[in-house]
Amino acid sequence: MNVFITGASGWIGSAVTDELLANGYAVTGLARSDESAAALEKKGVEVHRGSLDDPASLAAAAKAADAVIHLAFNHDFDNFAAAGQGEHDAVKAMLDALEGSGKAFLFASGTAGASGAVPGTATEDDPSPFHGRDSMRGGAENLALGYAEKGVRPVALRFPIVHGRDGDPGFVAYLAQVARERGVSGYIGDGAHPWAAVDRTDAARAVRLALEKAPAGFRAHVVAEAGVPTREIAEALGERLGLPTRSVSPEDAGAHFGWMAMMFGTGTRATSEITQRTLGWTPTGPTMLDDIAAGAYDV
Ligand SMILES: NC(=O)c1ccc[n+]([C@@H]2O[C@H](COP(=O)([O-])OP(=O)(O)OC[C@H]3O[C@@H](n4cnc5c(N)ncnc54)[C@H](OP(=O)(O)O)[C@@H]3O)[C@@H](O)[C@H]2O)c1
Repeated sequence: MNVFITGASGWIGSAVTDELLANGYAVTGLARSDESAAALEKKGVEVHRGSLDDPASLAAAAKAADAVIHLAFNHDFDNFAAAGQGEHDAVKAMLDALEGSGKAFLFASGTAGASGAVPGTATEDDPSPFHGRDSMRGGAENLALGYAEKGVRPVALRFPIVHGRDGDPGFVAYLAQVARERGVSGYIGDGAHPWAAVDRTDAARAVRLALEKAPAGFRAHVVAEAGVPTREIAEALGERLGLPTRSVSPEDAGAHFGWMAMMFGTGTRATSEITQRTLGWTPTGPTMLDDIAAGAYDV
């Protein structure tokens, strides 16, 4: 089976690529640069040169594959609305190409949106509140799941914070960098709000199992820890980096944390019982605090 993966060179996508290759799949990966293309070729991945900004090229690659896993995203937090619109257009182009084929279309989403502005506990039964091209991430989750009625097998991969020991460039790394720059490891308010989390290797295995087993329209919660209190994350980083830990008031959070303030100040709790049962998936990797304590975010 040949799987077209967008974002195959990214943090999650490279682990998903390794997981599929190790399990006998052929992978075609989208690459927008020579560097990403070379990294993919080295693994034995067929390269499709192109960009998220070229929907026609994405559609052609989707059509040629037996299944699609869409993990690329333009993480430009200064231009988040445009990134969401681009996501909408890319997803729509690939899904239109797959219409009536019965093929799987797995795509990255997040647990954060499902719990809305007031953090509750998101489950797989909670729909995304985002609809339309101008909404958060282009409303791509609802757009894509709607193609279950059009002869596609769409599956939302709702990721929480995906941590790991092999050079995570993401959210925890950003917090560690802010702590080093400010000389203090901060949390917002009382730090009671949680971040759901999963180890990257566990996440990759869940994605493969979702490819193999998830029904059309499924919202997979790729979640190992339902909610790690943000205060505990800051304390673990402070201890590991040898820095004091303290609360930052919500009013000062923007100046202290930059674009991360909103996310770190709201949090998400999400469960995964339905996903674990449906996919036969049991997370076994280290916890987020284990990774911090082991030095995954030292540099
Ligand atoms: N990491 C997390 O904790 C987390 C949590 C929730 C949701 N997610 C979502 O999961 C997905 C994967 O996340 P990630 O952490 O693996 O992201 P990442 O490490 O930033 O990787 C992004 C991937 O997208 C590719 N890409 C970006 N812009 C592109 C463009 N214009 N054209 C073609 N390719 C482009 C990158 O290619 P290059 O290699 O060329 O840069 C890279 O392969 C994203 O949708 C993300 O928002 C991640």
